Amino acid sequence: AEVVIVGNPEEAGALYGDAAAELIARKPDAVLGLATGSTPLPAYRALAERIAATGLDVSQVRGFALDEYVGLPATHPESYRSVITREVVEPLGLTPELVHVPNGDPATIRTAGEDYEAAIDAAGGVDLQILGIGRTGHLGFNEPGSSFASLTRVKTLTERTRLDNARFFDSLDEVPVHCVTQGLGTILRARHLVLLAFGEGKAEAVAAAVEGPLTASMPGSAVQLHARVTVIVDEAAASQLA
Ligand code: F6R
Repeated sequence: AEVVIVGNPEEAGALYGDAAAELIARKPDAVLGLATGSTPLPAYRALAERIAATGLDVSQVRGFALDEYVGLPATHPESYRSVITREVVEPLGLTPELVHVPNGDPATIRTAGEDYEAAIDAAGGVDLQILGIGRTGHLGFNEPGSSFASLTRVKTLTERTRLDNARFFDSLDEVPVHCVTQGLGTILRARHLVLLAFGEGKAEAVAAAVEGPLTASMPGSAVQLHARVTVIVDEAAASQLA
């Protein structure tokens, strides 16, 4: 992987914003791989600024989120459908119908994975996938033990991840136990991966992902299997790299 160490999250966001704006200028119906969580927010802000400043036409841009909770109504403010609408679709001015999030409705959960894979395939695959990494080393919600070949499917969240995400809910009890997530195999098919990580709390996961052994115990290490990965970290998140 190419590792870029930046001074702060805004600089990381600027690098993503440049890459994404360049991609869209070259390919107006580009397919963006989207992540939720705190990490990508400066990147989305930077891209929104570039779109506003240049008048870049994003009406044909397509998007695929990494994951969704199972059993939260799509209208719940913390469903990833709501988060992607609020943090990506609206500020960037994307066409809502072209931005996909896995379907966490229990009624159709049996086919949610294959349906999502089919939609990604029909779009011709993801051009630029933004990734955060969890303290457990997860990418998307692929917790330790996930196969490197895995595709979109239902997974159980670890207690660590539920605790980390409880900040978005009123209590831990409200954090769903299951999710639908793109698999590591799905993520590895994207043409370019941009992994962002900020802060001390991510240092161990970043070092293990980038420099550690390839192992299902560290899902982040899957990025070592990809030919085009850009890891953008601040000093704190880089602090355990060799
Ligand atoms: C979000 C996702 C997760 C997060 C990870 C880091 O769609 O798939 O893998 O990227 O949990 O979360 P933050 O950025 O909130 O530290």
